[in-house]
Amino acid sequence: MKKDLLKMEDLSKDELLDILNIADQLKYELKHGIKHHHLDGKTLGMIFEKSSTRTRVSFETGMYQLGGYPLFLSSNDLQIGRGEPIQDTARVLSRYLNAIMIRTFSQEEVESLAECSDIPIINGLTDDEHPCQVLADLMTIRESKNILDGLKVAYIGDGNNMSQSLLIGCLTSGMNISLAIPNNYMIKEDYINKGMQIAENNNLYFNIVNDPKEAAKDADVIITDVWASMGKEKEVNERIKAFKGYQVNAELMKLAKKDAIVLHCLPAHREEEITEEILEKHSDTIFEEAENRLHVQKAILVKLMK
Ligand code: CP
Ligand code: NVA
Repeated sequence: MKKDLLKMEDLSKDELLDILNIADQLKYELKHGIKHHHLDGKTLGMIFEKSSTRTRVSFETGMYQLGGYPLFLSSNDLQIGRGEPIQDTARVLSRYLNAIMIRTFSQEEVESLAECSDIPIINGLTDDEHPCQVLADLMTIRESKNILDGLKVAYIGDGNNMSQSLLIGCLTSGMNISLAIPNNYMIKEDYINKGMQIAENNNLYFNIVNDPKEAAKDADVIITDVWASMGKEKEVNERIKAFKGYQVNAELMKLAKKDAIVLHCLPAHREEEITEEILEKHSDTIFEEAENRLHVQKAILVKLMK
């Protein structure tokens, strides 16, 4: 049976760690000039309904490095943009391609695409989830701290795609997580319930607080993301007011562990969710995190397509 990656919940702890292990191996092989053409002759369609730098370039390059061929498909040029149903698009593309990566607004659209396709579907970001990014974050945390089990992650900011995927990804991989999110921008209740269940089953803690200081206390990892995600551009001004105080800055970092790392999926808005000072101080880790998108997505492609 084909396997998709539509949301973090699709992965068990073993599957998640397997992807990270393959990613480490592929990164090592790339750095040492060892070719790894696991997907010789295979094709990946990449549908984009939102902008992208990292996701597009890392999937394209990754497919090439694996011996396959990536096709960039802008929704403006596809018939989807003129109203062709996603179900028909899925049935047609399944006959040409070996897998599809899609970045769009609605999670339901990605799930319908998966239901009607015979080939693996990968979520390259929706309004609800960003699993590829979170896998790269987990890879970066493990590289930096050598372990995942028992660490404390603090997420400061919007209850968006990143925080929802992060919550599930951290708890599934054995980490504790504290989220500081303003009340009016909370993650969906369904994610809170899922988080509580995974935390309880694995003897981990997960909490949501209003005060970023409470979340950051003794954290091993501090993560943030933009206050206004793609699609929320009209709300920028009101969000800047609402998120004041939810900034990762030097004062907040004093509460985390001394050797805490900072992650940001990028693009970053300096002096909004993170200060220039902290972004630059942690830029080695943040740009390694961006690089790890390439390695981890190659691992996902190998797992789903080989
Ligand atoms: N972090 C991330 O997904 O970046 P892009 O929007 O540039 O793909
Ligand atoms: N939350 C952000 C992530 C960008 C990679 C957005 O959806 O725009």
